[in-house]
Amino acid sequence: MATATWSPGSGDILLGVMGDPIAQSRSPIMHTAALRAMGIPGAYVPLHVTPDKLGEAVQAIRTLGFRGVNVTIPHKVAVMAYLDVLDESAIDIGAVNTIVNTNGLLTGYNTDGIGYVRSLKTEVIPDLSGARIMVIGAGGAARGITAALLQEEPSSIIVANRTAGKAQELAAEWSRKGNITGISLDQAEGMLDGIDVIINTTSVGMYPHMDETPVDVSLFHEGMIISDLIYNPLQTRLLQESQERGCRIHGGLGMFVYQGAYALEYWTGQPAPTEIMRQTILDCLGGSA
Ligand code: ATR
Repeated sequence: MATATWSPGSGDILLGVMGDPIAQSRSPIMHTAALRAMGIPGAYVPLHVTPDKLGEAVQAIRTLGFRGVNVTIPHKVAVMAYLDVLDESAIDIGAVNTIVNTNGLLTGYNTDGIGYVRSLKTEVIPDLSGARIMVIGAGGAARGITAALLQEEPSSIIVANRTAGKAQELAAEWSRKGNITGISLDQAEGMLDGIDVIINTTSVGMYPHMDETPVDVSLFHEGMIISDLIYNPLQTRLLQESQERGCRIHGGLGMFVYQGAYALEYWTGQPAPTEIMRQTILDCLGGSA
């Protein structure tokens, strides 16, 4: 079995991201800038892997001596079957976005949820304990962030979804980890008074459907924190209108930066240059700092 652990002085580090399609991924540009800033020699490359070749591609991580890869759509669930060890984050969420290769032993992690929470805490609210949180949506993205939010000991989490049954299923599965309930999106609008943080995990408002919002913003109250996982556009209509109502807003760019930062920290054992990573993405989105 190949030895593939990277440590300072051990030469170039090989990293990449596997997906299908992959050309649109901004991870290579972000991680390449990060490696340069950290003074670590190596490369982070896009790897186009079709579903029928996923097993061979995972074996190639060992064969070619990659220190690790990110995994993106559509492989996050399927890749789990090919790994040696699954971290608790991956088991809880049921998906892997980061693989670490330690001397041929492949461990799967999920850094999406913890990346999101690190972004929210760094950028808007340092302490989430006691917070009353509403998560809109009950798909894969909601699953990841809800798992990580429960670790922060909020007072309550309400999952509100267009299809109420999915929200209730998610809540039932994690009810042993905290005070979590599932409701329909229609019910949610009557419950906003008692909420501190609202998080949109749906694709409503994403490019090119930028006119849409997942809930009626006129019901929001001043001082509420409104967070949107979407980062294209950088400011969704939900965030723009919430800001106009006196809410504090948080966009999805930080989640992308910090999920990558955690991965890079697992691979290198060194702190990731998060500001450089953020600026690199802003530059390629054409935004400002
Ligand atoms: P992801 O992995 O990005 O979360 P997903 O698993 O397909 O994607 O989940 C998408 C989520 O967005 C779901 O909660 C979905 O609601 P349903 O379960 O009712 O399908 C929600 N969603 C998508 N489009 C929506 C819309 N137009 N209005 C409200 N919710 C929507």
